[in-house]
Amino acid sequence: MKIAVLPGDGIGPEIVAQAVKVLAALRSDGLKIELENGHIGGAGYDAAGDPFPAATEKLAKESDAILLGAVGGYQYDNLPRPMRPEQGLLRIRKGLGLFANLRPAMVYPELVNASSLKPELVSGLDIMILRELTGDIYFGQPRGIRTLENGERQGFDTMHYSESEIRRVAHVGFQSAMKRGKKLCSVDKANVLDTSMFWREIVSEVAKEYREVELSHMYVDNAAMQLVRAPKQFDVILTGNIFGDILSDEASMLTGSIGMLPSASLDANNKGLYEPCHGSAPDIAGKDIANPLATILSVAMMMRYTFAADDVAQRIEAAVRKTLQQGLRTGDIYEAGTQKIGCAAMGDAVVASL
Ligand code: IPM
Ligand code: MG
Repeated sequence: MKIAVLPGDGIGPEIVAQAVKVLAALRSDGLKIELENGHIGGAGYDAAGDPFPAATEKLAKESDAILLGAVGGYQYDNLPRPMRPEQGLLRIRKGLGLFANLRPAMVYPELVNASSLKPELVSGLDIMILRELTGDIYFGQPRGIRTLENGERQGFDTMHYSESEIRRVAHVGFQSAMKRGKKLCSVDKANVLDTSMFWREIVSEVAKEYREVELSHMYVDNAAMQLVRAPKQFDVILTGNIFGDILSDEASMLTGSIGMLPSASLDANNKGLYEPCHGSAPDIAGKDIANPLATILSVAMMMRYTFAADDVAQRIEAAVRKTLQQGLRTGDIYEAGTQKIGCAAMGDAVVASL
């Protein structure tokens, strides 16, 4: 298992270090794991003047899987757009064809009180958001800021989805539903956007190949509401890049903390990039208080999706569960009666449980 490790910025290095402890423990148990570090985001800009340096691209392409922390920091906020840390993330996703972004939102029984919703609404929640990751308004051309004939300036972006882009992610969605509750809700804005109308048409066509899966369609505004009204109605949510960006952050809060949410971004051959759903949290960087569990759970997803090692994935997930059962919590999921510990201590505790 050749894994590229890209810690990135902010809390990235701290949380990735905990996930690397888990990988090291698995290696001493006999898994053939090879790790190599690279720079991305602001760290790439600092090291090589580019948020996605050529050396990182090479490393990522040669590896089977990529473990990434997070990108972004205040010191980079005023750089020209091509140099900004987020571009590193967007370029690695696009450059490696990582079009299928899986963002599970699961509520651990131990954390049911950490959710901002009533326990009965979220207890037992287990949904999968599948976000298309390399198309949509994120990458559409043309885009920019232009001056109109009347002299007024205008910002503009382009939303589009081609048939093949919709088709391939829809297949991932239906296949993922087949392995779960056999329900797929496709989220769009077909009442307003032509791109969405087309999205709906193609998803409905692909559905004919998966008769066992119950397909529904929902407008994104309604989906945003339903996620906080009755989130357990969902099994798999399939949606485009920008809607998925927004809905997955919303869904994270159902689980109590965005610090618990892992993600996988896969290409057509299950090569993948694994990262927590949260950002680089520069305000708490270097303080040893970040929650490393989303990153550790991303390693579990890596074992499951890229390396087809479901047993190893389950072992990591069980170790996280056990650590929570012991009452250990980082600050974001702390509640009275539990024990607050730091990022590094949480990593050690998971390794001990493992
Ligand atoms: C995410 C993030 C990124 C995105 C940013 C950092 C570019 O919000 O992974 O959800 O918008 O995709
Ligand atoms: Mg986001």
